[in-house]
Amino acid sequence: MSKDTTTAAQSVGDALENLSTESRKFAPSAEFAANAVVTASAYAEAAADRPAFWGKQASELLTWSKPFTKTLDWTNPPFATWFEDGEINAAYNALDRHVEAGNGDRVAIYFEGEPGDTRSYTYAQLTEEVKKAANAFEALGLAKGDRVAVYLPMIPEAVITLLACARIGAIHSVVFGGFSAEALRSRIDDAQAKLVVTADGTFRRGKPSSLKPAVDEALSVPGHSVENVVVVKRNGEDVNWVQGRDNWWDDTVGTASTEHTAVGHAAEHPLFILYTSGTTGKPKGILHTTGGYLTQGAYTHKAVFDLKPETDVYWCTADVGWVTGHSYVTYAPLINGATQIIYEGTPDSPHQGRFWEIVEKYKVSILYTAPTAIRTFMKWGEDIPAKYDLSSIRVLGSVGEPINPEAWMWYRRVIGSNKAPIVDTWWQTETGAIMIAPLPGVTETKPGSAQSPMPGIAVDVVDELGVPVPDGHGGYLVIREPWPSMLRGIWGDNERYKDTYWSRFDGMYFAGDGAKKDEDGDVWLLGRVDDVMNVSGHRLSTTEIESALVSHPSVAEAAVVGAADETTGQAVVAFVILRDSAVEDADIVTTLRNHVGHEIGPIAKPKTILVVPELPKTRSGKIMRRLLKDIAEGREAGDSSTLADNTVMNQIAASLKA
Ligand code: WTA
Repeated sequence: MSKDTTTAAQSVGDALENLSTESRKFAPSAEFAANAVVTASAYAEAAADRPAFWGKQASELLTWSKPFTKTLDWTNPPFATWFEDGEINAAYNALDRHVEAGNGDRVAIYFEGEPGDTRSYTYAQLTEEVKKAANAFEALGLAKGDRVAVYLPMIPEAVITLLACARIGAIHSVVFGGFSAEALRSRIDDAQAKLVVTADGTFRRGKPSSLKPAVDEALSVPGHSVENVVVVKRNGEDVNWVQGRDNWWDDTVGTASTEHTAVGHAAEHPLFILYTSGTTGKPKGILHTTGGYLTQGAYTHKAVFDLKPETDVYWCTADVGWVTGHSYVTYAPLINGATQIIYEGTPDSPHQGRFWEIVEKYKVSILYTAPTAIRTFMKWGEDIPAKYDLSSIRVLGSVGEPINPEAWMWYRRVIGSNKAPIVDTWWQTETGAIMIAPLPGVTETKPGSAQSPMPGIAVDVVDELGVPVPDGHGGYLVIREPWPSMLRGIWGDNERYKDTYWSRFDGMYFAGDGAKKDEDGDVWLLGRVDDVMNVSGHRLSTTEIESALVSHPSVAEAAVVGAADETTGQAVVAFVILRDSAVEDADIVTTLRNHVGHEIGPIAKPKTILVVPELPKTRSGKIMRRLLKDIAEGREAGDSSTLADNTVMNQIAASLKA
């Protein structure tokens, strides 16, 4: 739970107040509803017997090498197993079986590179590439259960690498390319990765940007676990080369055999680890296993996006470095036999119409992106998307943070031509797949609300004591029943898993989000209630950034808050007390921003750093972030009566005016 419950309660309260009563509703068209892949009966069916409902999805959507006879085992909470005696191969399900079913010529991936280069892979071609990578990784000594760190840009090789790992039962751990060498090192170390797959670099806004040097730096300390590095040649920049350790992708994967038989792995065999920020400094290695994860991913992908794999063109804009790029790029769409777009670049390069150009070019019918992108497009103006033919779009998805009603309305009107249903999807790295979202052919959608738990998912909003709040009230979001794609733990730290998620409310999973139930019982997400910030849909920990700041010799103390930001949702604002030696340093703010970039990664750099003489603390020494948030958001600071020294706020105000 949050270290400062006052902050938590306050932020839920603030969010509730800011939430204007929203009365607009949009029903699906009769035509959409009549052709919907999943209908309202799914809710009743799932409610009648939750494990049986998921068992049915697991059998229907996946091909098992050995069928399961058990569904859920929850005899040892909070450790669940699903489909435990079944065996399955994730890569076979994503690839080979589509080829065997005669769909080998269907395009699996259309790739748009940032410099404008393109490639496409049919299911047959992608299957061959994955088989080659699986053979190459095995030839490098990789075996079932070994961990592989993946530090790649958003290129097809990322998906190929993940599926090749899954094929041989190796456990991938993707580290987002925007993280620093230091962050990469700690994740490699925690997972004891044996292999690293990376690239020379990528492109960012027309310029080459490197990745390999960060890998070299991460591996510069003796005693690490890595035996081999495989390097994709992407931007052609010169790279440092360590003989005997480094291998070009083209020389290893490129020359490997295209014959590789996929064997089944136990349903509970680990599929991947993905590190995410928590309330303490050390990132958590969220562990996902195979059968349940694939089941819920495939089901939600089909149900929430109304997927018709023969005709839809699906584009999820997430990077593979985040969970959305795992569940809704690498696994679910391919399991479901969809045709999808992968784009390496940013929305503004080479021009601000890039996304819409891609939608027009490939006739994208399902678009899944983040509110921060939508708000950016709004800022750029609607005449930009108006230049393109977006008439192929029939479903629009949103993920990563609460979507404000005005952004939702803009998305619907400007991108969805006032007809495409919007599905606002709430979930987390930990939940593995979508938990709360409308069903586009069923739900009357409301701008800004994720609305209903998926069929087979038991979500609730409770008060401080864990008692469900009545409709019309706010509280904490919890999950009452185990779900197939739930995390199975934190890598190497069962205690932390129990403490973080299962100790706040008895027998319930605590998500860390505030939420409200409206008068109809629909769920509205209100943002984090703990020390986790959400910047452009990326999770960042206040504590982690504070630790990075105080690790600099010029900083005596630091406090970080997430301040409301029009475009990025939240922005990182840091308050620092400098050591005497640094007080005269005119460049200190730049130095500290770069230091955070080096310690964690560019995405964590504070937008604003305010140098202050003191920090507001309670008598027990807790920093009152609520007061700092008031300052960061330009408000009069609230009640400071519990401060140990109540002149501190005046001192801070005076120093900021100076
Ligand atoms: C937030 C991303 C409101 C939430 C899939 C959650 C959302 C955290 C939504 C998880 C949404 C995600 N509405 N908030 N539709 N989707 N969040 O692990 O605070 O990167 O706890 O997973 O993002 O972020 P994560």
